[in-house]
Amino acid sequence: MKRTLYRCRECGYRSPQWLGRCPQCGEWDSFERVSEGDKAPKLESRTKPQPLAAIELREGGRLATGIEEFDRILGGGVITGSVILIGGEPGVGKSTLMLQVAERLANGGLVLYVSGEESPAQVKLRARRLRLANSQELLIFSEQRLEYVEHEARELKPQAVVIDSIQTIFPPGEKAGEPGSTRQVGAATFLLSQLARELEVPIFLIGHITKSGEFAGPKAIEHLVDVVLYLEGRGESSVRLLRAAKNRYGSIEEVGVFQMSERGLREVTNPSELFTVRSAQPKPGSVIVPSLEGTRPILVEVQALVAGGRYGGGYPQRRSTGIDYNRVALLLAVVEKRLGIQIGGEDVYLSTAGGLTIRETAADLGVTAAVVSSFKDRPIDWGTVVVGEVSLAGEVRPVKRLKERLSEAERLGYRRAVIPPSNALKGLNLELSPAADVEEAMEVLLS
Ligand code: TYD
Ligand code: MG
Repeated sequence: MKRTLYRCRECGYRSPQWLGRCPQCGEWDSFERVSEGDKAPKLESRTKPQPLAAIELREGGRLATGIEEFDRILGGGVITGSVILIGGEPGVGKSTLMLQVAERLANGGLVLYVSGEESPAQVKLRARRLRLANSQELLIFSEQRLEYVEHEARELKPQAVVIDSIQTIFPPGEKAGEPGSTRQVGAATFLLSQLARELEVPIFLIGHITKSGEFAGPKAIEHLVDVVLYLEGRGESSVRLLRAAKNRYGSIEEVGVFQMSERGLREVTNPSELFTVRSAQPKPGSVIVPSLEGTRPILVEVQALVAGGRYGGGYPQRRSTGIDYNRVALLLAVVEKRLGIQIGGEDVYLSTAGGLTIRETAADLGVTAAVVSSFKDRPIDWGTVVVGEVSLAGEVRPVKRLKERLSEAERLGYRRAVIPPSNALKGLNLELSPAADVEEAMEVLLS
């Protein structure tokens, strides 16, 4: 009776099971099935060594989806033959986004959407909810076995492939239906990236992130792909940000802004309006900060609530949503020490409007102003924006791309800006109030 064996194509190592990596020579995905008694297989490769001089450079075309926020992140469209990882927490909207992208791409040819998680009927229901066109070109394939996906891709020669998700696609030798292991995800990604190059077709991989912020399986797959995008959302907010964490073909500075609606993800072309909620009257504790997402200036409203001291002792409450808490703690110390405001016993809550997370120290002065404004119960004029980093000594420090930030504020009708001491800001139709330290800034804002 013949027994099935697996053998490393590279070094001939034999194993009774398929292995993702050869323990003898270290090669990845080199195992193939052989029957005992088979002679060594004829060595064959799909490619041959060729002289450098003979290699033709084909300009890898870019395929635009027409979803501008998406294309921009990719640097103007997706490069054929590339592998793009779209990561995000379960439920953030990865399948929604990619089904929308797939439908757009299917306007120009066949698109293979492989769903290892959902049945065709479930995908159809989502498509209906999204009011997507009933495309003949968009092919839904509920399959978990990688070899069948490869087979269909070779047969159909689609112009794009979506894998939803990489955790539910299993290479030969891996048991389907089990949650994605590091080995499975790595091997599947590796094989799919080879397929992308072979067929010169872009392959999008959806990848779930676990709570700890890593892909189930390897962080290691980032190096196997060309582009890594993360779709992020915060709490109950409908805002979704698409960020590039890696891009072999473009900048990683770009951010795409979307909003999850009844009918899927909608592009937000004017994000500043989304992140600055304006009531008729200015309210204490509210400050508009011209922040930067990548290279993109976005105005964000920072809100602070300083609530009266604790009755009967106990620790004061401190909460921060959308702003790094460690930074907030530092700024509260600056408020106490440099402005002489006794805030130590107060409850302090901080938040950003619209669900945007601020990651830059350029918001320091705005956060400080919001806290002081709430503490004093005095509003800051609606027409003013506040920007600057704050040092431990309470000095206001410069921020990058100040001019771009202020231009955005001007464009949206703001009249005044409190900024770090700076020169060389010409051509702005804004009243500029440079402040050397927090004390000076608070005087300008709240006197
Ligand atoms: P989904 O794309 O399935 O998330 P993921 O693939 O990242 O796990 O989106 C899940 C959420 O999005 C779900 O809670 C419902 C919501 N949603 C909408 O609000 N509007 C829509 O049009 C669709 C399709 C989903
Ligand atoms: Mg999904």
